[in-house]
Amino acid sequence: MSMKQKLEELERRRQTVENGGGQEGRARQHEKGKKTARERIELLFDAGSFKELDVFISHRSTEKGMQGVKTPGEGVVTGYGSVDGRLVYCYAQDFTVMGGSLGEMHAAKINKVQDLALKTGAPVIGINDSGGARIQEGVASLSGYGHIFFRNTIASGVIPQISVIMGPCAGGAVYSPALTDFIFMVEGSSKMFITGPQVIKAVTGEDVSAEDLGGAATHTGTSGVAHFRSESDEHCLQQIKRLLSYLPANNLEDPPALEISDDPDRIAPELDEIIPDSPNKAYDMKAVISRVVDDGDFLEVQPDYARNMLTIFARMNGKTIGIIANQPKALAGCLDINASDKGARFIRFCDAFNIPILTLMDIPGFLPGTNQEFGGIIRHGAKMLYAYSEATVPKVTLVVRKGYGGGYIAMCNKELGADQVFAWPTAEIAVMGPEGAANIIYSKEIQKAEDPEAKRREKIDQYREEFANPYKAGSLGYIQDVLQPSRTRPMLISALEMLAGKRETRPAKKHGNMPL
Ligand code: HXC
Repeated sequence: MSMKQKLEELERRRQTVENGGGQEGRARQHEKGKKTARERIELLFDAGSFKELDVFISHRSTEKGMQGVKTPGEGVVTGYGSVDGRLVYCYAQDFTVMGGSLGEMHAAKINKVQDLALKTGAPVIGINDSGGARIQEGVASLSGYGHIFFRNTIASGVIPQISVIMGPCAGGAVYSPALTDFIFMVEGSSKMFITGPQVIKAVTGEDVSAEDLGGAATHTGTSGVAHFRSESDEHCLQQIKRLLSYLPANNLEDPPALEISDDPDRIAPELDEIIPDSPNKAYDMKAVISRVVDDGDFLEVQPDYARNMLTIFARMNGKTIGIIANQPKALAGCLDINASDKGARFIRFCDAFNIPILTLMDIPGFLPGTNQEFGGIIRHGAKMLYAYSEATVPKVTLVVRKGYGGGYIAMCNKELGADQVFAWPTAEIAVMGPEGAANIIYSKEIQKAEDPEAKRREKIDQYREEFANPYKAGSLGYIQDVLQPSRTRPMLISALEMLAGKRETRPAKKHGNMPL
């Protein structure tokens, strides 16, 4: 064969791979409102930067139904490139080739990307669009999933792992995304479930559509399995880039620092009036956050799940921080099972990736109720204590308003290792709220009074005056200072910069036994 012929053959073979499932397959993908694997990669990476790996891999199965079957690219495009100038690895399942089903060599391609990402310390983005285990390859497919799950686990806490669901992701296949740090879903086209609607109908008799069972709204709002919901593939890929901009490439690096124009000494006069006079009135904690962080800009993680707990990436003087905050607008900001899970997981992500944690506290306590107790709020709430205590990144806490009982500790008080604790003058830090406390400690006095109701109110006010303020905690050294709210930004930036060089170690151990 002449050189010319060899080059022609190379081109022909490459074209076959790039063609995937062909024009018809691509058209079907577009009809469903989905992009193809290669189009998604093009949208994600900086122009021309993506380099494909294992271009010519094909299956080697001799099972019935696989002999002679061509699977261009083995149903998955893998490689690396730059996203906003930074190295990122990616695999994107190609639904046009055997429904993106995962066989032995499809898995091997994904494994190679995972191994390279771990070795070189860069994020992996997995774009899932697949009918699951390739039925014809049987147990070899299951083995492939096992290899992926194992690598997901080993890479956890070392490199950021992001899963993108842009089509079906069913059965055990859901466990790779579940083992990664963040899951993105697209409205209408993403579906995640362990057992599909037909199986559920057959086993339990329940009628449920695939969308209601495992669509983006379900998993970002109800189950909490997914973190971000997007309108389209394009929107989703944009959101991923935004998330990446806050993250370091690996656990040995600091997150990227940006040049910002927002003055670190900026005061925010609106904050002096943001807390309502009545302690029972709600306000929006996000309004507080937007006035404190750089340019009022932040990325909320799981905005539709456990809304009583906010988990947010933002920047302070150009550097990434993770914010954990109670949201008084939802369930009065109480901690419940879902909020505890959401908060603890976010704290652990921040700690693993050197992202300082800012906690904004306004918590009346844990949510009362039999469903909370029976559901194991004791175990779930303990995750917050565990995650905060375990975290060695800089931890700064601001008591905005309520800090009652176990909630005060679970939102990172000094004893859980907060390096700096501040309070606003509106802070109320005590064992329990004035109403409950007055009823207990002054019950006899109230009962004996001529007008018990008036006495009760008097005692509540007295308790609030004596205990429900920041000064008692200040006098005992539990808080650093009481801040004028408008001056919060400069103080927090100063605290975070003072703590930037923090070094803290924990006793060597194999791993702890976190309450799960
Ligand atoms: C082999 C598969 C496949 C699979 C789809 N295809 N899933 N081939 N193994 N798992 C093929 C189809 O035969 C078809 O091939 C092509 O992909 C496109 O599929 P369609 O059915 O035409 O597409 P659509 O109508 O969009 O339906 C998509 C689908 C459906 C909902 C995903 O294909 C489906 O239900 N597939 C089976 C899903 C499943 O049960 N998977 C196993 C899950 S258990 P042709 O040649 O006709 O184009 C699992 C265990 C993992 O994954 C365990 C890990 C621990």
